[in-house]
Amino acid sequence: MSYYKIQNFEQYFKHYNKSVREPRKFWGKIAEENFTWYQQWDKVVEFDMAEAEIKWFTEAKVNMAKNCIDRHLNKRGEKTAIIFEPNNPNEEALHISYNVLHQRVCKMANVLREKGIAKGDRVCIYLPMIPELAVSILACARIGAIHSVVFAGFSASAVATRIMDSECKMVITSDGGYRGNKTIELKEIIDEALEKCTSVEKVLVVKRTGTGITMKEGRDIWLQPLLDEASDNSVAEIMDSEDPLFILYTSGSTGKPKGMVHTTAGYMVYTAYTFKNVFNYEENDIFWCTADIGWITGHSYSLYGPLLNGATTVIFEGVPSYPDFSRFWEIIEKHKITQFYTAPTAIRALAKENLEYVQKHHLKTLKVIGSVGEPINEEAWHWYNDHVGQKKCPVVDTWWQTETGGIMISPIAFVTPTKPTYATLPLPGIQPVLMDENRNEIEGNQVVGSLCIKFPWPGIARTIWGNHQRYKDTYFSAFPGTYFTGDGALRDEVGYYRITGRVDDVVIVSGHNLGTAPIEDAINEHPAVAESAIVGFPHDIKGNALYGYVILKETGEIRKKENLFKEINQYISDHVGPIAKLDKIQFVSGLPKTRSGKIMRRILRKIAEGDFSNFGDTSTLLNPEIVDEIKDNKV
Ligand code: WT7
Repeated sequence: MSYYKIQNFEQYFKHYNKSVREPRKFWGKIAEENFTWYQQWDKVVEFDMAEAEIKWFTEAKVNMAKNCIDRHLNKRGEKTAIIFEPNNPNEEALHISYNVLHQRVCKMANVLREKGIAKGDRVCIYLPMIPELAVSILACARIGAIHSVVFAGFSASAVATRIMDSECKMVITSDGGYRGNKTIELKEIIDEALEKCTSVEKVLVVKRTGTGITMKEGRDIWLQPLLDEASDNSVAEIMDSEDPLFILYTSGSTGKPKGMVHTTAGYMVYTAYTFKNVFNYEENDIFWCTADIGWITGHSYSLYGPLLNGATTVIFEGVPSYPDFSRFWEIIEKHKITQFYTAPTAIRALAKENLEYVQKHHLKTLKVIGSVGEPINEEAWHWYNDHVGQKKCPVVDTWWQTETGGIMISPIAFVTPTKPTYATLPLPGIQPVLMDENRNEIEGNQVVGSLCIKFPWPGIARTIWGNHQRYKDTYFSAFPGTYFTGDGALRDEVGYYRITGRVDDVVIVSGHNLGTAPIEDAINEHPAVAESAIVGFPHDIKGNALYGYVILKETGEIRKKENLFKEINQYISDHVGPIAKLDKIQFVSGLPKTRSGKIMRRILRKIAEGDFSNFGDTSTLLNPEIVDEIKDNKV
């Protein structure tokens, strides 16, 4: 019996129970039957939750890129691996076959090796959504270099922080990138970032926009001529199961971004398995995940998950609103997409536009539609189901995180009955528990609590780059013996899960995970600012928007406040990126603080939401009088 594909709801329970009772047999069999290994594992899993030490498929030898590409060449060499849809709809789409992808990745692998990159070196990839992004990632995987993709919307200082943290030896970027009717000067941003980074020896530059850029002698090299010269024969590096495959940064509620480290074999097995099941992937399907590859969703479900299954995946360079709001629907029709995977924020933005944009396109090839990144509200769920899925496609509301590597709680298309706003049931291998404030597990149904996972799964991140202690503290200490997700959840009368949102200081804006700390740090850099606190408040399109409470050094400067708001947002843009800008700002004379100096965000959150009813226990506040002042001056 094979466990790779769940056929029906009854079988889901069988597989689920097997995965809990005999996780080693369950994952061992999946790993054995669906991948190519140089050498088998010794143990399927070994772990110590208290120390946050987790290993899957110990001692096995494997190469991720070989599993994504080479393995398929016999059977699927001429099949399209990647469809590239350019920003400009008049530019021709590219169909890259598995054979061609193999050649391109091998050439790139040789270029990387020739430019001094070896197994274990970190390579920062800062590219728009173009084929070279996929090729660079896979080339790193082929030679065992650790890729650290930084979303090409991050500012110079945000890129610099990430490059320095993991001491990248190389950066791969492009002259510029197209996004709707804008051109983004990526190379310029890298030049600025690299003023501070001493670890970077070489910068490879892809030509995309043809914008004039400066090339630094001895450091910067145009990529294409190197590729033209390179051989398309390259030997893949034999990797250990637990060798890092990549680092991907995610914001924390405090301190600098966390470089989540994903390793090779477990991540491979988990992304392939979840892709196959959640989306009901079948040969000849055309899968499109709209997420940028700079986020985990793009890593796992635009690239690795689909390619591991020999699928055709779409990379779209542009934005949903360009040239107009029908672009997504036009692409679905044009490329005959069968699975479409996007974020609630995009759904809400598009639902606001004229229905004709959707209705004028044939979406009949679709069979599964997915949602990811934040809770999907009832209205958006129904709009998506009615107008995109046309009531015949299961909506898979997939809950997971950068840290989890792959989808954790989600309907399995054509297997799990869906329920609006519910991520429904855990996938096999995932053992969720809800915890109360006293760290006790809440049993039974119709309960709410902090969502934790009590047994490791193959895709879990293994550490934070350079800081295992922080990894332990953030995820394994709040509820000992379990992995703490940072989310709250509700379990309904039949055991379905609904994610209610973050219970920590992370705010999800337009599906982007934003820690409050880096934004506050950026605001505090402004010379007029003494201190600040950021909270999220509900927003129709973005899910949450940011509300900033700011204390100025000179409280008299009332007339200049209009300008200050703009300037502060510019600081945020420069330090974190444009996605983190504030929607509202309130200048205050103080912030509610506990005696230990901790800002009581709970109160600030309520005020920002306009809910003045019950501030809870304020007895530990050092300055309770400030609450009225802030409330009375809410913007
Ligand atoms: C946080 C993780 C997973 C890839 C994209 C985001 C929220 C994610 C859902 C969902 C409700 C969701 C959670 C989670 N989230 N998916 N289907 N329903 N909330 O990855 O940037 O690491 O953010 O996104 O709060 O903890 P991320």
